Amino acid sequence: MTLILVADNDWAIGRNGDLLTRLPADMKRFREITTGHTVVMGRKTYESFPKRPLPDRVNCVISRTCTDIEGAEAFGSIEEFLEYAKGVQDEIFVIGGGEIYRQMLPYCDKAIITRVYESFAGDTFFTDMDKLDDWEISEASDIIETNCHKIRFINYVRKG
Ligand SMILES: NC(=O)c1ccc[n+]([C@@H]2O[C@H](COP(=O)([O-])OP(=O)(O)OC[C@H]3O[C@@H](n4cnc5c(N)ncnc54)[C@H](OP(=O)(O)O)[C@@H]3O)[C@@H](O)[C@H]2O)c1
Repeated sequence: MTLILVADNDWAIGRNGDLLTRLPADMKRFREITTGHTVVMGRKTYESFPKRPLPDRVNCVISRTCTDIEGAEAFGSIEEFLEYAKGVQDEIFVIGGGEIYRQMLPYCDKAIITRVYESFAGDTFFTDMDKLDDWEISEASDIIETNCHKIRFINYVRKG
């Protein structure tokens, strides 16, 4: 499975239940990478989307409280989703938020990260990937500018 997220200078990923900022170039890339595949997310991230489900993707939502989620497959636990994932031939993208990234990281071998070079005073964070001994950078783009923000696309892979 592949984790995909945007993180700021402090590895913040969200604030007040929403994204830190709007990054059109990142949104476009996210759509291109995930379209046609399966995406898995926490209930809070699913509910944060203005339009649900994400089109042209199998939307999987993990929730202890909701068993029936319109437009999505619902799973009561990470383990229940992992059982389902065994039957998915295609690549699965873990798309957030903080709780789900943290619990799913051990099952991922690739992370597609967009760094935005600012500090947004977020309230939801991800692990600093550069401090994880078992992960390394496999690819990094140049810095580009989108919506007046400087960003860089960085891929990490699990070592060995
Ligand atoms: N920067 C990015 O790339 C990015 C991407 C996605 C989201 N985000 C941001 O992340 C924030 C949301 O993250 P979050 O951590 O608050 O919420 P979240 O991970 O989206 O969802 C948390 C919910 O998932 C369910 N859940 C979590 N662990 C579970 C488990 N083991 N078993 C069953 N259900 C489980 C629970 O749902 P129930 O309460 O229904 O039981 C829990 O309340 C928002 O600010 C969002 O904008 C950022």
